[in-house]
Amino acid sequence: MVAAVQEELRKIAVQPNGRVPRHVAIIMDGNGRWAKERGLPRSEGHRQGTENLRRIFECAVEIGIEILTIYAFSTENWSRPPGEVQMLLRILETVIDRELTTLHKNGVQLRHIGRLEGIGSRLQRKIRQAMEMTRDNHRLIVNIAFNYGGRDEIVNAVQRIVREGIPADEVNEALLSHYMYTSDLPDPDLIIRTSGELRVSNFLIWQGAYAEYYATSTYWPDFDETELHKAVAEYGRRKRRYGKTDEQIE
Ligand code: FPP
Repeated sequence: MVAAVQEELRKIAVQPNGRVPRHVAIIMDGNGRWAKERGLPRSEGHRQGTENLRRIFECAVEIGIEILTIYAFSTENWSRPPGEVQMLLRILETVIDRELTTLHKNGVQLRHIGRLEGIGSRLQRKIRQAMEMTRDNHRLIVNIAFNYGGRDEIVNAVQRIVREGIPADEVNEALLSHYMYTSDLPDPDLIIRTSGELRVSNFLIWQGAYAEYYATSTYWPDFDETELHKAVAEYGRRKRRYGKTDEQIE
């Protein structure tokens, strides 16, 4: 993109109050419909959707976003046709095989959130290696939600709390947050969903309690830098009240 246009978009994104979300989470929806409208197989939609991540990572860094959480495969996605499930599993492996060195060089810290159990052992190993290799990078933290479900995450947290014998009266919101996959990260400020669907779909249901939601009809493969700037600009116009009145936050 021409530098001047980029600069202009950046100005829009930080206006009117200059707030940039630290943590942005994205439900990357619409790959299938994107492909269908072009007479292409669904796999092509997922391929383009994966390609799209490159420009979104770069743009996120430019905007000043620190953490990006992307919903790549939900615990419910196992019920898709087996061929598509295999493909989505393969995509993650291919991303690690082909992109890890570049992502590492670019200062991206890769993390996985979700259940590793249930994913094949080779892919599990690659995920662990990718996290280990990039753990000291701080330009952008990318959480890949893979085999992730929000309810499953809460169940997992409660199981661990019970197993550790933590007394009931010590269980509070802070403690539960500590047992979530994102324990050391701030909650998402902005959750984006593409493709016009207005659902949470079991994504970050604990952490998203006070997130600002943003929906666009654009399919994920078409969600480009301009779209991300628009979402961030909209976020900048929202008033986050956390249950307080307007007067209290002004
Ligand atoms: C939703 O589109 C998208 C998914 C279930 C998968 C998202 C995955 C990627 C974009 C690949 C990136 C993956 C990794 C591992 C980095 P859909 O298939 O539900 O689209 P539809 O609603 O139009 O059918």
